Amino acid sequence: MRAFCVFLVCNLVLGLVRAGDGNYSLTKNFYKKVCPRAERLIRDITWKKTQADPALGAKLIRLQFHDCFLRGCDASVLLDTVGNTTAEKDAGPNRSLLGFDVIDEIKTQVEKLCPNTVSCADILALTARDSVSFQYKKDLWDVYTGRRDGVVSLASEVNSNIPPPSSNFTSLKQLFASKGLNDVDLVVLSGAHTLGVAHCGAFSRRLFNFTGEGDVDPSLDPTYAAALRAKCPNPPNPSTTVEMDPQSSLSFDNHYYNILRQKEGLFVSDAALLTDASSAKLVEHLATKKDHTFFAYFAKSMKKMAAIGVLTGEAGQIRKQCRVVNA
Ligand code: HEM
Ligand SMILES: *[C@@H]1O[C@H](CO)[C@@H](O)[C@H](O)[C@H]1NC(C)=O
Ligand SMILES: *[C@@H]1O[C@H](CO)[C@@H](O)[C@H](O)[C@H]1NC(C)=O
Ligand SMILES: *[C@@H]1O[C@H](CO)[C@@H](O)[C@H](O)[C@H]1NC(C)=O
Ligand SMILES: *[C@@H]1O[C@H](CO)[C@@H](O)[C@H](O)[C@H]1NC(C)=O
Ligand SMILES: *[C@@H]1O[C@H](CO)[C@@H](O)[C@H](O)[C@H]1NC(C)=O
Repeated sequence: MRAFCVFLVCNLVLGLVRAGDGNYSLTKNFYKKVCPRAERLIRDITWKKTQADPALGAKLIRLQFHDCFLRGCDASVLLDTVGNTTAEKDAGPNRSLLGFDVIDEIKTQVEKLCPNTVSCADILALTARDSVSFQYKKDLWDVYTGRRDGVVSLASEVNSNIPPPSSNFTSLKQLFASKGLNDVDLVVLSGAHTLGVAHCGAFSRRLFNFTGEGDVDPSLDPTYAAALRAKCPNPPNPSTTVEMDPQSSLSFDNHYYNILRQKEGLFVSDAALLTDASSAKLVEHLATKKDHTFFAYFAKSMKKMAAIGVLTGEAGQIRKQCRVVNA
């Protein structure tokens, strides 16, 4: 009985201390005792890879987003299709998820250093941070570790968990809320669209046939829409991509919020952030303050996203290879 009460009190106190900020079953430097060199090794390889491919950060952070929104951050996005069970990554030919090869390479090195110890889910979270941070040569956000890997990946779960680029504010808000993320997180995490590229198909409806009457999305700047039509004729070439944050798509900075204010957000989901008064206010704030304001917000929201539904303790497993569940 006494043990029970102590347990209750402890939990109450810890609960109060920890309340309201994501999943604290993760800890800082979880591998300190069991594989002290892991995080450093992951960073070293990631920096080398990012130097060779400056677009890597975009690929990896998007991979992490898709991982965390589906079954939590359990590396399910890394699993390959087995037999007739189509995996998340094979849900659509146009999902264009990339970066798997780099994760595999890092995992191989980490296994050599410490076999069966470091999860693929943690490797993904660390390497996404390290790749995006490379341009500044310092960690832009903390990554807590201790995730374990899931054993299930289902293409059939993608549509209900990953927002389409045509999403309006209401549906984005709802989906994020279902993951424990609020409107601030939505605006701030969308700032990752300061990096990377998109295929014409993700936004071409806005350019040619927005409501099905041959019209252009009025929330898109007309001059910008014309420039996009030149790059992405109708019907779109499936292999053409455009930068989401023109001329700055390799730089992680607050520039995305500036293009949003100029009605140059690429997706309906980007433009949607201006359709809600308080979100529009946050867009304005992030656009007009210096980068470090955005970075501080981003660090906080990433910590929440990176903890969604994580498996810890005895749950899940430490995969030997990130693409396959252990035999
Ligand atoms: C808010 C809802 C979101 C929607 C509707 C959305 C949608 C998309 C779409 C359609 C693409 C282009 C894919 C392609 O055509 O190849 C894309 C790219 C990308 N997304 Fe998002 N996204 C969202 C949130 C996020 C979040 C939260 C992150 C990360 C924190 C993120 C990071 C990225 C990055 C970095 C790219 C570029 C990938 C590359 O260049 O390889 N997105 N997103
Ligand atoms: C998938 O494969 C398994 C075993 O090969 C089989 O029993 C099952 O009926 C298949 N399911 C579908 C939906 O085809
Ligand atoms: C992407 O592929 C999915 C499934 O194959 C399809 O339903 C969707 O319409 C496609 N989206 C675009 C923008 O091409
Ligand atoms: C937002 O999108 C959802 C899903 O497509 C739709 O049901 C809803 O009516 C839309 N809401 C507004 C305000 O346009
Ligand atoms: C525009 O959309 C409407 C309704 O979806 C469709 O019937 C029409 O063929 C589309 N036009 C073009 C040029 O894609
Ligand atoms: C936190 O982690 C626990 C244990 O893995 C999990 O059951 C729970 O759903 C997670 N909570 C959130 C808010 O993601």
